[in-house]
Amino acid sequence: MLALLFFTLLVLTSTEVEAKFKSLHCAAFDQDFGEFLLCKLKAISRLRNSISVQYKLKQPVSKIFIRLEFFKRANGWRPFLYNFTANLCDFLARNNNVIMGIGYAYLRPYLVKNYSCPFKVIENELLECKDFELDINNLRNRFPIETGEYALQLTFIAKNKAALTINGSIEYNNYREY
Ligand SMILES: *[C@@H]1O[C@H](CO)[C@@H](O)[C@H](O)[C@H]1NC(C)=O
Ligand SMILES: *[C@@H]1O[C@H](CO)[C@@H](O)[C@H](O)[C@H]1NC(C)=O
Ligand SMILES: *[C@@H]1O[C@H](CO)[C@@H](O)[C@H](O)[C@H]1NC(C)=O
Repeated sequence: MLALLFFTLLVLTSTEVEAKFKSLHCAAFDQDFGEFLLCKLKAISRLRNSISVQYKLKQPVSKIFIRLEFFKRANGWRPFLYNFTANLCDFLARNNNVIMGIGYAYLRPYLVKNYSCPFKVIENELLECKDFELDINNLRNRFPIETGEYALQLTFIAKNKAALTINGSIEYNNYREY
């Protein structure tokens, strides 16, 4: 009886929140700069999925900026919390941005290698993120977000032009509310 109670508690607490990726879009605006070979959202189970992205760079890059725009869905996508542009090379060299530092630490296990500037064009080398799964509990510890749908759009800007964007959204539910 006690065992059953513990089991029930365990199941309840472990399925209390559900969060997974809802969409993923990749766009390369300058084919001379590079192209996406993969931009994929893959189901693992009903409650879990992962994303993988591969981008092939065609030009060496020594200076590049990244814009992060956060959105929350409420009658369409509304700007949420952060919208800023940072020098990606400086960040990779000095880890000088708190928000990006948190995001990068979170993403790092899924990156195929550690990146730094200048990015060289090496045969068969891709900028790649593999089987990135959402860990909502880890995320919630740092950002106590409400349930809902959120999106993040990353724009990589080289020579004052957007070269590529990656945007993804997540859906976050809390079963306790039902
Ligand atoms: C974020 O800031 C940029 C530059 O100021 C602006 O062009 C863009 O529209 C902003 N995005 C959102 C979602 O507000
Ligand atoms: C990247 O660097 C971190 C620490 O700087 C290290 O722990 C990790 O193993 C490195 N990853 C790869 C794929 O080289
Ligand atoms: C992400 O990109 C898609 C396709 O371009 C677009 O429909 C969607 O509105 C974008 N999402 C956000 C949050 O900007």
